[in-house]
Formats: sequence, C-alpha cells, structure tokens
Amino acid sequence: MTGVFRRVASLRARATLVGVLAVSVALCLGAVGLVSELRSAMTEGIEVTARSQLDDVASLLRAGTLPAQLPAGRGDTITQIVGAGGRVLAWSSPSLSTSPISRSQPGEEGVQLSRVDGVPGAASGADAQPEGPFLVLAQRVPAEGLSVGGADGQVASALGSTVTVYVAATLHPVDQATATVAWSLAAGLPVVIGLVAILIWLLAGRTLRPVEAIREEVADISGDDLHRRVPVPDSHDEVARLAETMNEMLDRLQAAADAQRRFVSDASHELRSPLAVLQATLEIALAHPGDIPWPVVASDALGEAGRLQGLVEDLLLLASLENGSQSRRQEDVDLDEVVMEEIRRRRPTSRVVFDPSRVSAARVDGNRRQLARVVQNLIDNAERHAAGVVTVELSEEDGSARLVVADDGPGIPPGRREWVFDRFARIDEARSLDAGGSGLGLAITREIVLAHGGGIRVADSNRGARLEVVLPCAVDDQDEPDIGVSKQETVR
Ligand SMILES: Nc1ncnc2c1ncn2[C@@H]1O[C@H](COP(=O)(O)OP(=O)(O)O)[C@@H](O)[C@H]1O
Ligand SMILES: [Mg+2]
Repeated sequence: MTGVFRRVASLRARATLVGVLAVSVALCLGAVGLVSELRSAMTEGIEVTARSQLDDVASLLRAGTLPAQLPAGRGDTITQIVGAGGRVLAWSSPSLSTSPISRSQPGEEGVQLSRVDGVPGAASGADAQPEGPFLVLAQRVPAEGLSVGGADGQVASALGSTVTVYVAATLHPVDQATATVAWSLAAGLPVVIGLVAILIWLLAGRTLRPVEAIREEVADISGDDLHRRVPVPDSHDEVARLAETMNEMLDRLQAAADAQRRFVSDASHELRSPLAVLQATLEIALAHPGDIPWPVVASDALGEAGRLQGLVEDLLLLASLENGSQSRRQEDVDLDEVVMEEIRRRRPTSRVVFDPSRVSAARVDGNRRQLARVVQNLIDNAERHAAGVVTVELSEEDGSARLVVADDGPGIPPGRREWVFDRFARIDEARSLDAGGSGLGLAITREIVLAHGGGIRVADSNRGARLEVVLPCAVDDQDEPDIGVSKQETVR
C-alpha cells in the first residue's frame, strides 16, 4: 500500500487518493449499516403485527370457537388453523383451504418463527395472496372443548388435542424498500465520492501552490542574486514558516557572501599598496641608475616584500583557521613560559617598559605556536599604543587561565570594542602609532582563542586598552576536559 503511494509522485494526487479511499470506506460502511438497519427495523414491525394477529386468533380459540372463515388479518397477514394430519381447519381466505402454509411443527410452548418463499395460492386468481417471501409464526393451541362453527364431521374428527395456528406476513415490502435504498446508494455514492475527489484535488492544489512558487523562486536563485527572496504566503501555516525560514537562510547567505566580497576587496586593497610602493621604488631606481644608492633601494624593496609576505601569511592563516584545517595539535603548553619568552624577545626601548610582575603559572591544552601568536599580537598592539607601560597578567582560577594585556595608551572606544576584532579593522588609520598593522592581528587572535574553546574581549579600564583572554586550563589525563561554555560566553 505504502509502495503504491510512494510511486504516486505528486503530493496532490497522493492526498486525493488517500482522501477518496478514506471517504469511500466510510461511506460504504455507512451505506451497508443503513440498509441492514432499515431491513431489521421493517422486519421487526412486520413481526409485531403478525404476533398480535397470532394472539388474536389464539384467544379466539381459547374462548372455544373455531370459525371456518377467520377474521381478516391485521396488515397483510394471512392465517391458517391446521389440525391433526396437516388438515386445514380454518383460513383467512379460500385459496388457503387446501394445504398448510408450513410443515414445521412448533413445540408445546411458545411461538416458532420460520421463513417460507411462498404460500398456497400466492399470486393467482382474484384472492391472490401477497408476494413472498413470508415470515411464518406458528403456535400450538389446546383444542379441547372447541366447538366447530358450521363445520362438518370431518373437521370435528381432525381436531386433536391441539391445533396449530399459522400466521404468515409478507416480507416483500422489506425486500423492495431495501433494494430501492441500496440501488439509490449505489448510484449516489460514486457521485459523492467523485465530488469529494474534486474538492480534495482543488484544495490540495491551492495549499501546494505556494510551495511550487517557493520552489520556482529557489530554483532561479544563484550566487549572484542572493538578494532575492521567496514569496511568503499570508496563511501563517507550515508553508509560510518554511518560506520565512528560507528567507532567513537567504539573509544569512547574503550576509556571508557580502562579507566574503568585502574581505576579498579589502585584501586586494591591502596587497596593492606595498606592491605599488615596491614597483615605484624600483622604477625610480631604474630611471636613474647612476645616482641611486642600490643598497638602500634593496633594503626598501625587502621591507615592502616583507610586508607583503606577512600579509599573505596572515590571510592564509585566517583562511585555514576559519575552515578548521589548521591542526590544533594538542600539547600541554605552559602559558607563563610563552608570555615571558615573548617579553624577553623584545628589544628594550626607552619608550615602553613591560611589567610582568603579575604573571603566574598557567597550563593550557593547545597548539603552542598559535598560542604564542595570540600573546605576540596582544603585546605588539599594546607596545605600539602604550605611552610608557605595558602590564601583563596571567592567573589560573576555576579551571581557566586568564591572560590580561593592558597599556596606558589612548585605549579603544567602547563603541569599537567588538569591531576591532573584525578583519582589516583599524581605528583611525591615519594615527601614526597604527602604522604597519593591516588590521588582521586581532581577527587572527580571536579565531585562535575560539578554536581553543576560550574567549576574548576588550575589558573596561581607567586608562588605555585592556584585553582579556580566557582559555580552559589543561586537565590531567583521567579528567574530562572542562571547557566551560558559560565562561566562553561571559568573556566574548
Ligand atoms: N592596545 C591597543 N590600544 C589602542 N588601540 C588598539 C589596541 N590594540 C588594538 N587597537 C586597535 O585595534 C585595531 C586592530 O588591531 P589589530 O587587529 O591588531 O590590527 P593592527 O595591529 O594590524 O592594526 C588597531 O588598528 C588599533 O586601532
Ligand atoms: Mg595588531
């Protein structure tokens, strides 16, 4: 059955098929019930009439008289009184005078019911009996002291100790009525079922029209026209919700595509300027080959090439961090060692001093090179913006390592605290202290921290910028890693 449904490729046809099947079964059961109910109700009515006729005749006999001509029956009933040896003693019409209606002999007590197809004299002559079949009721009545009115000696001799009263009632009207109803139903039901099929077909078509409209629109949408949206029917039903969900998905796809496009154009823009400088430097040098200090030119060119290389490496790193292809080699990293090494690596300058006094031991699981990159980016930024002091703090609490890099520079305005983590985001590009950065540092830093299950944010501070990183601590092998999601959320 389900196989058949699956082969019907259209939802509309399937709905119609199921609906028609269900309605047909219900209507057919109803029709059968109706006909049988009608038959039993009519039969019951006829039986009641026949019983009262039987009672009437029985009480007549009990009163002591046996009239040769029985009174006309109630309704369409016919009556016969049969004595010993099957001899008919009395009848309700002359055609019944020869042979008994039924051969069945009732017991001493009670009424016996049977069915016969015809009675003597049925459908013949002037006093034709009604058409069969008949319901026959038979009862034995005592015959002692019965005086036979107008009867001859033969009749008197046929009186045994009991006589049998037969009352027959025709069931022909029942058969006729039920046949009429059955034929009407047989003719009417297909029409009703056909109407139901048409109705379901139309309704299903109406319901599914928006689905088809959505499908057509989606089939047309390509990467270039992500601004298009599928039509939302104002039905507030599942189809409308599907359309809304699809449009939300298109919103997200469009946003992602826009971000991608922006990223590509920003990246090209960033790559173009060092290339332009490199080209200009070399062109000028070649135009005046005689009076150019070649070592200076070479060192300038090398500087620009270095910038280009750094930028390309950052872009590659970001791309690989983003699609998760950078292996997060799991190792036990002493973050305090990484921090102290990074500070030691820096050439002492008269401008900025580092204060690592609040760096204490902290161990995290992760990729040492990537974690070193995080520390380096944060300290680079702080050093570049600091007026005089860069403070680094590291501590372990509640299963998390907390790294803070703070400086006493101009700080990051509250409205820009999320934005600085975007790619190519630079506050006030003209600011001299920002020189050299491409705006990818914090974006890379955030990707690494997130990949390690941690979080990063710009925290409040009285003076300068304060960047806070939280990373889940390394756990001993037997324990489950406790990467606190709530922590990640509070920090991000
Ligand atoms: N410690 C800081 N103090 C003030 N501004 C900062 C600090 N760190 C970062 N910023 C701002 O955030 C921007 C983004 O930083 P980053 O992504 O590291 O890019 P870059 O260092 O290449 O400029 C910087 O251009 C700078 O304007
Ligand atoms: Mg930076």
